Amino acid sequence: MSITVNYNNMMQYALGERGISDAELKQQEILAQSAHFQVEAGRGRDMQGWMDLPYEQGEIVKTIKSAASRIRKSCEAFVVLGIGGSALGPQAVFTALKHYYYNELPKKLRKGPRFYVCDNVDPERMNALLDVINVEKTVFCVITKSGATSETMSQFLIVYDLLKSALGDKAHEHIVAVTSEDKGNLIKLARKEGFETFFIPASVGGRFSELSPVGLLPAAVVGIDISKLLKGARDMDRKCRSKYISKNPALALAVLQYISVKQGKNINVMMPYSDSLRYISDWYNQLWAESLGKEKDKLGKTVNCGQTPVKAVGVTDQHSQVQLYNEGPYDKVITFLEVRDFRSDVTIAAGCEDFPDVNFLCGHSLGELMSKELYATRYALTQRGRANCTITLDAVDAYHIGALLYLFQMQTAYEGAMLNINAYDQPGVEGGKNATYALFGRKGYEAKAEEIRSSQPDADKYIIK
Ligand code: PA5
Repeated sequence: MSITVNYNNMMQYALGERGISDAELKQQEILAQSAHFQVEAGRGRDMQGWMDLPYEQGEIVKTIKSAASRIRKSCEAFVVLGIGGSALGPQAVFTALKHYYYNELPKKLRKGPRFYVCDNVDPERMNALLDVINVEKTVFCVITKSGATSETMSQFLIVYDLLKSALGDKAHEHIVAVTSEDKGNLIKLARKEGFETFFIPASVGGRFSELSPVGLLPAAVVGIDISKLLKGARDMDRKCRSKYISKNPALALAVLQYISVKQGKNINVMMPYSDSLRYISDWYNQLWAESLGKEKDKLGKTVNCGQTPVKAVGVTDQHSQVQLYNEGPYDKVITFLEVRDFRSDVTIAAGCEDFPDVNFLCGHSLGELMSKELYATRYALTQRGRANCTITLDAVDAYHIGALLYLFQMQTAYEGAMLNINAYDQPGVEGGKNATYALFGRKGYEAKAEEIRSSQPDADKYIIK
């Protein structure tokens, strides 16, 4: 495994009094080991089916690969319709592993359909998508575990209607459903209409589902080696079998954040120094926020816990957010994602000999500039006592991305166990979903509709016209 976690700059060793002492880390060892025990005890049970995904999908992988190879040949565009955990993973893995301008590449180089993820119900965006695809030559992959999410079902209804108008009784051939086997409306519709279907195991929640058909099918369609994604996850899982902070990178990352929160560091910034990893931060933000932001702990005690995840991108955000990180409140931990070897590099051309202030760059490469800027940013932050750690990937490939996703899922699971909260529910999200159903007059939500109707209206005095 060639993913390393370097947390020197979170420790007193590098940060001085603002850092974590060896004694503090040692003090949390029992809590960390008990979190490890809890997570292991739950492996494969309740909502921890995601821990089985790297091991138990041999047959599913075969079916996905054969469906993907058919889809690759049959269409010009492949569109994922989904939201939250049903969209962020496919987007993150695609951006990490495919050409940055994949859709603009000529078909000969792309070797697969153009790829889009539609994770919002912004009407302008939907119209824009319909402007650039031909529905008759598109396969839509509708992903929703509940089979009920308003956003995804609305998108589905729109495209299915268009498909039926254009293709009549062949419309169903352009829809693939990824959903629960026995719950929700999408599976019922899929059976009625004859859609090709892949299942999300009941024990795998949305934000932990990237290594299920949710992520594997879209990845395979764009030509990503999904066996390698799973192999990376498997190898990371093996590393995480250790109950020792010094051996288990996910447990170390979890306990370091746990102690940091106790020190008042309530913001968890992820800053990849690689554009290919920028959506990994979005995926991580959902995982961290939705899993750990909870009102009650498992004993019903009000805890209102959760660290706020923030995305930054190196080097771009050195020219914006890094000012705050260096001089603002000491309330953040910055996790850098570093890539040892870029898949390609560009040499900065000569031609500025008369301008020494620019000429010093000539002959170096952009990869080198990126790495040195990461080093410099990390150095400056550390000098100012700002907690940071670095996760280094030897390469951005399917193997390392599988391992990285799994590392973060394990970190989140351990953190949830340390906080003694349920990391797998999302009552705060359900609240908004239910209010939307009520506003649309959905049957069964009459009481909620009444509650909304009788709620206090906005006061005019607080509205500026
Ligand atoms: O992590 C989660 O459970 C959520 O973010 C869901 O993925 C999101 O709400 C979409 O749900 P569904 O897949 O049921 O449409």
